[in-house]
Amino acid sequence: MKRSDISGFYKLNPAERLKIVKDFAGLSDEAAAILSNTASLGDLADLMVENVVGTMPLPVGIAMNFLINGKDYLIPMAIEETSVIAAASNAAKMARTGPRTKAGAGTGFQTSSTEPVMIGQIQLMNVPDPSSAKFTILANKDRILEIANEQDPVLVNLGGGAKGLEVKVIDTDTAAGSMVIIHLLVDVKDAMGANAVNTMAEAVAPFIEQITGGRVYLRIISNLATHRLVSARAVFAKDAIGGEETVDGIINAYLFAKYDPYRCATHNKGIMNGIDAVVIATGNDFRAVEAGAYTYAFITGKYLPLTRWEKNRDNDLVGTIELPLAVGIVGGAIRAHPTAKVNLEILGVKTANELAEVIAAVGLAQNFAALRALATEGIQRGHMSLHARNVAIAAGADGK
Ligand code: MEV
Repeated sequence: MKRSDISGFYKLNPAERLKIVKDFAGLSDEAAAILSNTASLGDLADLMVENVVGTMPLPVGIAMNFLINGKDYLIPMAIEETSVIAAASNAAKMARTGPRTKAGAGTGFQTSSTEPVMIGQIQLMNVPDPSSAKFTILANKDRILEIANEQDPVLVNLGGGAKGLEVKVIDTDTAAGSMVIIHLLVDVKDAMGANAVNTMAEAVAPFIEQITGGRVYLRIISNLATHRLVSARAVFAKDAIGGEETVDGIINAYLFAKYDPYRCATHNKGIMNGIDAVVIATGNDFRAVEAGAYTYAFITGKYLPLTRWEKNRDNDLVGTIELPLAVGIVGGAIRAHPTAKVNLEILGVKTANELAEVIAAVGLAQNFAALRALATEGIQRGHMSLHARNVAIAAGADGK
C-alpha cells in the first residue's frame, strides 16, 4: 500500500520531490511537466477572467504524512506563507504515531460529511400576507422542484438536483415590510454548485411570483452551506506530542479562543491557512469557503472556534473540526486550470465529499500544529528558521 510518510522528503530538491509524487499518484510525464512549469497559464488566463495582463503564480508544496480513514494522501497546498506546509505535515505525522488505542490514538484522521446540498436563496417581496405566501409556496413544492430540475437534467441523472424547500418570513421592521425567503435545497453532487443553484433559483422565480402575486428580487446561492457540513477528528497520543503538559497547553489555547474573539479570529485564521491552501490548489473558490467558515463560526450568535480540543479517558488529546465546505471536483475553474487538475490527480479523490473531508483534516492538523507551537516553544522559532530564506531573498540574495 502507498504511504505518505516518506522520510526526508523535505531534504530533496523540487525535481526529486516531484518524481516521488509522480510515482505515488501515477502521474503522466505531461501532468508532471505542468506542475514543474511555474511560469504561466499561457493563453488560458485570458479566457478565464477579464482584462488579463499576466498571471501570479503561488508555490505548490506537498503536505506529507496524512492518513485519513485508513488511506494515505499526498496533499498539494498552494500558499505563499512559510512554514504552513511543514506544520501540517508535522501534525499529520504526530496523528499517526504513538501507541494506538481503542479511542483511535495514532490512527490518523477520521472524517465524515453530509450530502453535498447547497442553498439557493430567493427573496420575495411585496406580498401583503407573507404567511399565506409561505403556505402557497410550500403547497406548490413539487412544481417548484420540477421547474428547478428541468434546468439541469445532467445533475438529475447523476442523482442530484433540487430536493427540498424551506420558507421563512423575515419582518424587517422598516417601510420595506416583510420579505419571504425561500431556500431551494439542491444536491450538487461533485460540483461546488454555484452555477447549478443560481440557474435553478432564477428559473423558479417567475412561478413563485405568479402563485404569490409578489415580486422576486435576489436569486443567489448562500455561502453559508449548513446542509453541506464536513467533520474530521484525530486523537493525538499524549506521548507523541510532548506529554500531558502539551495536551493541557493545547486545551487551554482552545479555551482562550472559545472565550475571547480576538484570539478566536487568529485561531480560525490558522485553520484557514490549511483549508485555503488546498482549496486554492484544487481550483476551488476560496472566498466562498472563507465566507461559509467564518459565518458558521458565528452560527450560535457567538463567534467560536471551528475546532474543539479535549482530553479522553487516557488523557490523550482529541481534536474535532466541523464546518461547511463547498468544494467541487468538476465545473468552474477546477477542470480548466491545468495545475488544479494535476493537484486533484495527486489527491486521488473520487468525490467532492472526499475532497472536502481531506480539506477538513488539513484544517484540523493546521490548528493542532499552531496551538502546539504556541503553547510550548512559541511560533517564531520554527517559523523564522524557515522564513529566513524569504528575508534573504528580499535583501537581494540569489540562487542557493
Ligand atoms: C499564522 O498564519 C497562523 C497562527 O497565528 C495561527 C494561530 O495563532 O493559531 C500561528
